[in-house]
Amino acid sequence: MNNSLKQRLTGLWKGALRVNSTCRLDEIVNHDDIKQIFAKALHSKRPVHLLLVGSPGSAKTMFLTEIMRHYNDSYFTVGSNTTKAGLVNQLFERRPKFLLVDELEKMSLADQTSLLHLMETGLISETKINKTRQMELTSWVFATANSCEKIIKPLLSRFVILEMPEYTFEEFSEIALIRLTRENVDESIARVIAEKVWNELGSKDIRDVIKVGRLSTNIQEVPFVVKMLSRRANK
Ligand SMILES: Nc1ncnc2c1ncn2[C@@H]1O[C@H](COP(=O)(O)OP(=O)(O)OP(=O)(O)O)[C@@H](O)[C@H]1O
Ligand SMILES: [Mg+2]
Repeated sequence: MNNSLKQRLTGLWKGALRVNSTCRLDEIVNHDDIKQIFAKALHSKRPVHLLLVGSPGSAKTMFLTEIMRHYNDSYFTVGSNTTKAGLVNQLFERRPKFLLVDELEKMSLADQTSLLHLMETGLISETKINKTRQMELTSWVFATANSCEKIIKPLLSRFVILEMPEYTFEEFSEIALIRLTRENVDESIARVIAEKVWNELGSKDIRDVIKVGRLSTNIQEVPFVVKMLSRRANK
């Protein structure tokens, strides 16, 4: 291999490492493909809008909160909480580079239209008592949803839609172990909890693991707590 080719390859490799190491989504276990896409979007020169779609407890919100934690020029909002005036106002005030919208499907039609306008034109505008204000804003929109049903089609088409893959039992156990040991639950108890939540409760939601972990004082109590939760789940 000649020297210039060697240098170019080394440069490319260093570039790839830099992109991955500055993505800073390490708290999220697995989902490596989705992390890679986020790393690319976070570093792209022009806006790329990402929508995470998946079942409850699959770490969608976590992606947004991790970005919020590490990027000061981000703004986090929940779809159900935004009113048109509220969202547009906040955008005027904060001018976020990364706009993080959790539960996009719960956003009102009016807010979805404002968002569409922003993504399409790079402009936000507001009319109040015959006065219109307008501002240019270049934002990357990262959003989450449980399903796409209530999201208007033109808005959907502006997103790169990423389906969160369902966890396998091995992935579920790994995440459960990490989360529970962080809460000082013994590793052997954590393994039993993960197994029972998956098999007896039929749940793939890490939140159920945490509930059982917090309610069980010792390993003997785990089956009882899981039984109580499954009574409700079977109704
Ligand atoms: N891959 C993961 N790595 C670390 N923690 C995880 C992972 N997946 C789920 N969790 C944990 O599970 C819980 C739920 O995650 P999160 O709130 O991000 O789910 P969600 O996909 O937004 O769910 P919902 O659709 O109900 O809003 C959190 O406590 C989170 O820490
Ligand atoms: Mg969520």
